[in-house]
Formats: sequence, C-alpha cells, structure tokens
Amino acid sequence: MPDHYDSIRERLVQDPRRWLVTGVAGFIGSNLLETLLRLDQHVVGLDNFSTGYQRNLDEVRALVTPLQWSRFEFIEGDIRRFDDCVAAVKNVDHVLHEAALGSVPRSLQDPIATHEVNISGFLNLLVAARDAAVSSFTYAASSSTYGDHPDLPKLEDRIGQPLSPYAVTKYANELYAAVFARSYGFHTIGLRYFNVFGRRQDPDGAYAAVIPKWIAAMIQGSEVVIHGDGETSRDFCPIDNVVQANILAACSDATARNQVYNVAVGDRTTLNELFVKLKDALIENGVACGLRPVYGSFRAGDVRHSQASVDKAERLLGYGHKIRLAEGIARAMPWYIQLVAESTS
Ligand SMILES: NC(=O)c1ccc[n+]([C@@H]2O[C@H](COP(=O)([O-])OP(=O)(O)OC[C@H]3O[C@@H](n4cnc5c(N)ncnc54)[C@H](O)[C@@H]3O)[C@@H](O)[C@H]2O)c1
Repeated sequence: MPDHYDSIRERLVQDPRRWLVTGVAGFIGSNLLETLLRLDQHVVGLDNFSTGYQRNLDEVRALVTPLQWSRFEFIEGDIRRFDDCVAAVKNVDHVLHEAALGSVPRSLQDPIATHEVNISGFLNLLVAARDAAVSSFTYAASSSTYGDHPDLPKLEDRIGQPLSPYAVTKYANELYAAVFARSYGFHTIGLRYFNVFGRRQDPDGAYAAVIPKWIAAMIQGSEVVIHGDGETSRDFCPIDNVVQANILAACSDATARNQVYNVAVGDRTTLNELFVKLKDALIENGVACGLRPVYGSFRAGDVRHSQASVDKAERLLGYGHKIRLAEGIARAMPWYIQLVAESTS
C-alpha cells in the first residue's frame, strides 16, 4: 500500500507544480532539484554560487532526462537583492528556501556576512513570496536553535540560548516567520535540520561538515581531527529524509502550517562511533583505511549533544520511512570515492 509520501509524489506527477528552490547549486538545494525534476515538476533555481557549485547542477542534468531538465530555469542572483527575490518567486506555487551561509565557525569568523544573507536575505524572500501569494513557503531552519537547552531528545517548543551568530540567524528566521503569520496571515513551515549529509555535500574548505570532510580525509590518508573527546553526539540525517520532509511540508494542509519541525532520524551517534562507521563503510567499498583520529580542543559554539524527537513531523506531516545513518553512509560513499578519485587524477 502506498504511504503518504508515495501518494503525494504520485499526485505531483499527475498535476505538476512550479517550485522555487533557493540555494539550488548547494548540497541540499541540488538534491531537492534532482527529486523535483524526476517528478516532472517545473523548477526555478536561485543561487549566487557563494558556497554552491555549477558542477552540482551539471550532475543533476546528467541524472535526469533532457525533457525533465528543460523544465528547470536557473537565475544567478542573490537573496540580498530584493529584486532578485521578486523575479524568482514569479508564478511560483511552492518555495523551498535553502540559500544561506551555513556553518557555526564561519558565523563566528564573520557574523556580519552571516547576518546579511541569513536574516536580511531571508526577509527579502519572505516579503517577495508573501506579495506573490505563493501557496506554500518552506524554509531551512536549524537544530542550532536548541542552543544550550539540555533536554534530549529535542522537542520543538523547548529551546535554550543560542550559542553562535549562525544560531541567532536561524532563530530570527523562525521569529520572522511567526510574525508574518500573525501580521499578514502568511503561513510558512520551518524545518529544523539536524546534521544533514549525503552526496554533493562539499568536503572542501575550512567550513566543511564533519562527514564529507572525514570521508575525503580518510580516502586521502590525511589527518582526521576530532574536536574534543569524541563523545560529542549528533543526530546525523541522510539527505533523502530532508528531501522527503520538504515535499511533505510544501504539500501539507493548513493545520500543519505555521509550525517548525525537527527533521532528523531520532538517533544519536558520537563522533568516535561515527569515525568507526565511516572507516568500516570505506573498507566495505574496497578502500583501505588504517587511520586513527587525532584529538583536538573543543570548538567554540558547538552544542555537546543533539538528538531530535521527530514525533511532530511524523504526526502532522506524515514523515516516515526514514533512512538511518548506516544506510545514508552506504548511499553517499560511492559518490565521495569517485569525487576524490577525480580530484586526484
Ligand atoms: N547541511 C546541514 O547539515 C544543515 C543543517 C541545518 C540547516 N541547514 C540549512 O540548510 C540550507 C542549505 O544548506 P546546505 O548544507 O545545502 O549548504 P550549501 O552551502 O551547500 O548550500 C547553500 C547554497 O546557498 C547559496 N547561497 C548562499 N548565499 C546566497 C545568496 N546570498 N544568494 C543566493 N544564494 C546563496 C550557496 O551558493 C549555496 O549553493 C541552509 O539554509 C543551511 O543553513 C543545513
């Protein structure tokens, strides 16, 4: 029997919609693009390539049919410019807003840039979408909003003080979204992602996320640094779950709107455990890996433990059939092995 997500996808294929994906050249945005095009949707993508890549778009092009690709319109633009947002939302049904400057350390290094993109850019897009009367607006919120709140698992209505400028920006998005509901009756959905990973997530640069960074380092035989004692834990979330949550949120009914939802697996894995799982997955893929991690100091702004309750998303959005960590790693690994091989050849 088809589940709720299957039914929604079937409905979309029968009755295609027009979507805007901001941050479309990034990790999450390009995965949303791929799924939407495979479902024969019309997609407008907006990106300024600040942390995203043309190669991500090229890869999606290679994975869909020429007809599906012809339904994609790319706008090279910047959410800090209101006019770019107005152009992007024109005639759009569903907005999936992913464009932002991610990374806690980047925000500590440059809080002004993070603020301009994540708060001013968000507000530009929110106003443009409200004025265009789009039928849904779903945005990337973040588990960083839980800040120093000690409870596990994390429940949506219990948050603490933010621990970084990045966390402030993501919380400010939620506050603006709530005010737009109260002031203008414009209802949105915020998805608090927890440590998303998967193919097309950038392994390079100072602000790379832990899973792609470690996989690339392990394949190359470089040093893997664990910040702290390795007992810091996270609810690592495979990208497929995030794609599912976005599509469910966009197609949800009025009762599920004007809310934020955790998007994760609901498990907790320490960095020490993660290291072993990645090493084992590499060996299963025929890549020898004899490395041991090196332990460094704890990083400022990092939350010690993180684990989501996904009950609310299951109940109100019909979120289910989640891909868990091991399966997510297995799906992502061949892509990383190929990427590293191409970059070193
Ligand atoms: N990856 C995670 O674990 C995670 C966790 C929580 C929340 N998020 C949020 O999810 C969203 C997507 O993250 P990601 O991991 O795909 O990051 P990413 O850096 O791969 O993608 C972000 C994209 O936004 C684009 N962008 C940045 N500034 C822009 C601007 N001013 N105008 C237009 N485009 C701009 C970038 O070029 C990039 O393509 C972000 O909002 C991020 O804060 C991600």
